Amino acid sequence: MIATVTKSMSNDVFNVQKVRDEFPILDQEINGHPLVYLDNAATTQKPNAVIEAISDYYRGYNSNVHRGAHSLSDRATVAFEHARDTVAKFVCSPKKEQVIWTRGTTEAINLVAHSWGRNNIGAGDKILVSTLEHHSNIVPWQILAEEMGAQLIPIPILTTGDIDIPAFSALLDERVKMVSVGHVSNALGTVNPLKNIISAAHAVGAKVFIDGAQAVAHFPVDVQALGCDFYGFSGHKLFGPTGIGVLWGREALLNEMPPYHGGGEMIESCSFSGTTFNVLPYKFEAGTPDIAGVIGLAAAIDYLNTLDRNAIIAHERDLLTYCHQLAEKCSGLKRVGEAENIAGVFSFLLDGAHPSDVGMLLDQQGVAVRTGHHCAQPLMEALNVPGTVRASFSMYNTREDVERFFAALEKVKQFI
Ligand code: ALA
Repeated sequence: MIATVTKSMSNDVFNVQKVRDEFPILDQEINGHPLVYLDNAATTQKPNAVIEAISDYYRGYNSNVHRGAHSLSDRATVAFEHARDTVAKFVCSPKKEQVIWTRGTTEAINLVAHSWGRNNIGAGDKILVSTLEHHSNIVPWQILAEEMGAQLIPIPILTTGDIDIPAFSALLDERVKMVSVGHVSNALGTVNPLKNIISAAHAVGAKVFIDGAQAVAHFPVDVQALGCDFYGFSGHKLFGPTGIGVLWGREALLNEMPPYHGGGEMIESCSFSGTTFNVLPYKFEAGTPDIAGVIGLAAAIDYLNTLDRNAIIAHERDLLTYCHQLAEKCSGLKRVGEAENIAGVFSFLLDGAHPSDVGMLLDQQGVAVRTGHHCAQPLMEALNVPGTVRASFSMYNTREDVERFFAALEKVKQFI
C-alpha cells in the first residue's frame, strides 16, 4: 500500500497549486475523502475565468447576436465574434471564417458527414476510420456509408493500441474518399501519428477529418502544420462549457459544402421561390447559437494562454510516468494500451474485478474515474476486453492524486 504523500516534483516549472486554486470544484470532499478527479477525458473542470465570463454575460449583456438594433446586442456580438478570433488563433487557422460553432465534436463530425459526405461519397467509395475511434467518429460515417452505398472500413490496430500503419497503407486506394481518425484516443490515450496518416491519405486523394476532442487540452494544435482538411473539438474537454464545440475546415471545402441546418442566420435572402445562403461561417450556423458557451470557451482558451503549455506537457508527462511506475508495483493490475506516445489516459483492468465495481469502490474513496467501454465498443472488442477502468489526467492533477489513486486501488483489492 502506498501510504506516503510526496510533494509534486513538477512544482519547479509548473505551479500546479496556483492552477488548482482557479478550479473551485477541486477543493471538496467526496464520501469523506478529498476529491481526486481523474475523469478529465469525460469532461474537464472549469476555472473561475470561465464561470465568471458566463455569469458576466448573463448578468451584464445577455442579448442575441447579429440581430439587435441595440447596445446590448452589439456588446454580445463583439464578444461572440472576438471568441471566433480567439479560437482561430488557438488552432492556427488562416482565417476566422473557417471556425464554425457546433454543439461539440460529435456535431462537427455529423456536419461534415452530412454536408460534405452526401456530395462527395458515392456507391463503391470507401471511408476509413481507425479501430480506436469513439462511436461519434464511427456512427455518422456508418450512416453515410449505408445511405450512399459506400463502405466503412476499420483501420486495424496493434495490441499496444497504436494504429497499424502498414495495414492502413495497404487499405489506401483511389476509392478512399475520407479518412477520419482521432488525434488522441479517448479510451487508451494513444497519440496518433497524424502527419504520416494525413500525407498518405492525401496521396490517394482522400480528405482527412481529425477528431481533436481529447487532444486540445493536452498540447497545442496547429491545423496548418498538421495539413488536415477538417478538425473538430469540444469546449467542455478544454476547461470550457458543455454544449459548445468547433468545426475547423479548409475554406475551399467549406465554401463548396451545402448547409447542414436550415433556419435564421444561415440565409442571405429567403423567399418562397427560393433561398440563397449566407457566407462562411454563418452558412453553417442556423438559429440562435450558444452565445454563453462561445464566450465561456474563449475565456477557457484565454486562461490556458496565460499558462506555459510546454510546462503543462512536462507536468502531465511526469504524472503519467509516475502512474506507470506505481502501476508496476500494483499486483493484479494489467494496463490496457501501451502505445509509445500517450496523452492523459491510464486504462487498466484489475484481476478478478469488474471495471464498474472498481469504479464504485474508488468513488467511495473520493476517486473519480470512468469505467466501461468508453463509447469505443469496437476497440474493446478488438482488444478482447469487456471494458476498462480509465483514469484520465489534466494539468491540475498532482502526484498526490496519483498516490491517492493507487492507495485507493489497494483498498479496492481488499473488497474483491
Ligand atoms: N467521450 C467522453 C469520454 O471519453 C465522454 O469519456
